[in-house]
Amino acid sequence: MIGIFDSGLGGLSVLAAIASALPQADLLYFADTAHVPYGDRDDAFIRQRVLAIGKHLAAQGCTLIVVACNTATAAAVAALREQLPGLPLVGVEPGVKPAAAASRSGRIAVLATASTARSQRLAQLIEAHAGGVQVAVEACPGWATRVETLQLDDPDFADEARRHLAPLLAAGADQIVLGCTHYAFLRPLLEAIVAQRATLVDVAEAVARQCVRLAGATALGQGRLTLLATAHPERLQAALPALGLSWLSDRLSGAARLALT
Ligand code: DGL
Repeated sequence: MIGIFDSGLGGLSVLAAIASALPQADLLYFADTAHVPYGDRDDAFIRQRVLAIGKHLAAQGCTLIVVACNTATAAAVAALREQLPGLPLVGVEPGVKPAAAASRSGRIAVLATASTARSQRLAQLIEAHAGGVQVAVEACPGWATRVETLQLDDPDFADEARRHLAPLLAAGADQIVLGCTHYAFLRPLLEAIVAQRATLVDVAEAVARQCVRLAGATALGQGRLTLLATAHPERLQAALPALGLSWLSDRLSGAARLALT
């Protein structure tokens, strides 16, 4: 079984890519909805949550774990690797490398939570992979919460998003990295603002390919999906249609359940 976790709904964008790439794998999605958003928390808090959830997923029998959250990966994937030696782990990091490679203007932007935006790990990723490309990092507080509350096409939020994107586009950024898994669900709203001046870069497909490489026998199951949440599991399940993921409901093994409370 593959365990995939996030603070809330965002990691469902990664789950969807994995479910498509590995249709027979059994998947366990864990949303830490009692503590979302992670992006406004300090590193120690995020690390403690990531370690507790990672160990819980391992105890449930997960033989591959995906940290489907840029914020959790930046703050705690290294600590989780230390705690779960030998267990294959996949983290999610902003697509700086593909964006820098695809940029024609030599300018890219990364949209991320406040926690990811100030992280050492993002600074190192940019240092290692942006080459001569100029990278603007834009913290977007509150955006993940918009997704959690399913305000995916709210006009006030569109104005707020425009205020963040306008200076980046004016500066010539032609690749905008979605550096938080929640932002994948804002793609239609963001695409309307960007209006072909830039490409939105998301790494869910790349993460799914990495899972295919690491899965081995974990790829072979009955294609069942289990949903767990630390608060309001019913909301997690009910959000699937609003997020364009109704097709995942067919794989559900039962109703979403509370866990690790
Ligand atoms: N989905 C998460 C990420 O990729 C975190 C959002 C949040 O909880 O603030 O960064």
